[in-house]
Amino acid sequence: MSTVGSAENPLRVAVVGAGPSGVYATEALFKSGHAVRVDMLERLPVPFGLVRHGVAPDHPKLKEAIQVYDRIARAPEFRFLGNVTVGRDVSVEEVRAAYHAVLFACGAETDRRLGVPGEDLAGSYTATEFVGWYNGHPEFRDREFDLDEEVAVIIGQGNVAADVCRILAKTVDELKHTDITEYALESLGRSRVREIYVVGRRGPAQAKFTAKELRELGELDEADPVVDSAELVLNPESLAEFEERRGAGAKKNFEILQGFAARPATSRRRRIYLRFLLSPVELQGDGRVQRVVFERNRLAGAAFEQSARGTGERVEFAAGLVFRSIGYRGIAIPGVPFDERQGIFPTRDGRIVDQTGALVPGLYASGWIKRGPTGIIGTNKPDSVATVASILADLPGLDSGPRPGAEALTVVLASRGTQVVSYEDWLAIDEAEVSRGTPKGKPREKFCRVEEMLELLGTRRG
Ligand SMILES: Cc1cc2nc3c(=O)[nH]c(=O)nc-3n(C[C@H](O)[C@H](O)[C@H](O)COP(=O)(O)OP(=O)(O)OC[C@H]3O[C@@H](n4cnc5c(N)ncnc54)[C@H](O)[C@@H]3O)c2cc1C
Ligand SMILES: NC(=O)c1ccc[n+]([C@@H]2O[C@H](COP(=O)([O-])OP(=O)(O)OC[C@H]3O[C@@H](n4cnc5c(N)ncnc54)[C@H](OP(=O)(O)O)[C@@H]3O)[C@@H](O)[C@H]2O)c1
Repeated sequence: MSTVGSAENPLRVAVVGAGPSGVYATEALFKSGHAVRVDMLERLPVPFGLVRHGVAPDHPKLKEAIQVYDRIARAPEFRFLGNVTVGRDVSVEEVRAAYHAVLFACGAETDRRLGVPGEDLAGSYTATEFVGWYNGHPEFRDREFDLDEEVAVIIGQGNVAADVCRILAKTVDELKHTDITEYALESLGRSRVREIYVVGRRGPAQAKFTAKELRELGELDEADPVVDSAELVLNPESLAEFEERRGAGAKKNFEILQGFAARPATSRRRRIYLRFLLSPVELQGDGRVQRVVFERNRLAGAAFEQSARGTGERVEFAAGLVFRSIGYRGIAIPGVPFDERQGIFPTRDGRIVDQTGALVPGLYASGWIKRGPTGIIGTNKPDSVATVASILADLPGLDSGPRPGAEALTVVLASRGTQVVSYEDWLAIDEAEVSRGTPKGKPREKFCRVEEMLELLGTRRG
């Protein structure tokens, strides 16, 4: 039998998930110098993961990564199998049998829980569902957000919280030429939200925003950022953090916050209050959220290891809307070991390991499902390159039998009635979305229901 990775016996890899980490892994495999065939299994009929369904609509530059991904996906050795959920439409065992290696790049698609009473009251939402809704993720298409309330609280101070805040604070005019979904734009246009609290459990030197995203909160047409300078008093550990290179981002944030604190009040319609050292302890209300109760914190620990400790003092905000933006979390797939505590697939150098630490042959991971839900689009590139290096290092030990890849999977999927969406199909969806957007001056008007997408493809095929 010829070695795996030769022209006669190409290395066949299934990549599960069409987000950045899956695409960067594909690119690294194609650049490996071996003969490789990649089939990408994606649960939605459309590719690109959070670049399509996470990145904010008013950040179109960041979506330009898609042009690079498109070039990779047009390689003749690549096949896209969209509308296929691994673990549901096809089992992990079936995929393993059809490929030499399976690389999971399936992201972190759910949210962390706060674990406080009242978390699930009406009016309390996750950032995950709000972001998915305004970005047209089919799973969140039918969510409804009650924007009749005047006061919203966002819990968490990362870039997702900044996105949620900006979308709530922007006017229709600031959003109407983006790819935000039409129904979200209509709903936001009727919004009565006037005060948005963005609340961190640690101090102003520990907020996780990047400077660009924080600065943007001060550049909105109809909203002013408000910071109380009394909350900008730093402890010695935080000052020490600023002195080090890794504290440079936090120092920049702090300077922006100082700028916000010094701004005179204006007559803009909305206010964004950035608040610090407050942990939510309860959401209260009669059938729906009316108040968020926080405990005031102090910081404890050495520089760069400071954590929030409760002081016992309670602070209440009257608010009818809450968005929990405290981080994402991976979802288990039957047949793959899962670390419940961290919400990731446990790995060693990108190779999936079981609870005992033993390698599970042929299974690999990259991106958020490997590292956890942190890092920008570009962070996934070196991560995926490292996992591919492990696959290539394992080549000599692989069972050298040829693998059927998509030819076998498509037969199984057809027998179960799954309509597989190809890359050409996606290009047709893409074209139709762009045409729908053009008359409105939008880059695209997304299809937000799987049935709509499949129907469009059915009509084309006649
Ligand atoms: C709201 C938000 C905004 C962001 N904005 C930016 C930004 O502006 N700039 C930036 O640089 N970074 C941004 N990021 C970070 C960036 O999006 C992530 O670093 C990146 O998308 C992670 O890539 P991934 O491939 O690991 O996961 P994802 O992008 O989540 O891709 C995972 C893919 O796997 C698919 N999948 C899941 N389960 C299965 C299954 N069982 N079978 C088949 N397919 C499956 C999913 O449908 C998805 O397409 C943002 C993140 C979020 C949450
Ligand atoms: N424009 C962009 O580039 C962009 C946009 C969106 C997202 N992203 C990236 O995507 C990744 C995910 O972003 P994210 O905002 O979801 O995560 P994140 O950056 O990790 O921020 C999570 C926030 O939630 C807080 N938090 C966590 N648990 C909490 C709890 N139990 N109670 C109260 N607060 C809690 C964290 O506080 P602590 O710090 O105290 O833990 C932090 O402020 C990040 O790497 C981000 O940079 C980038």
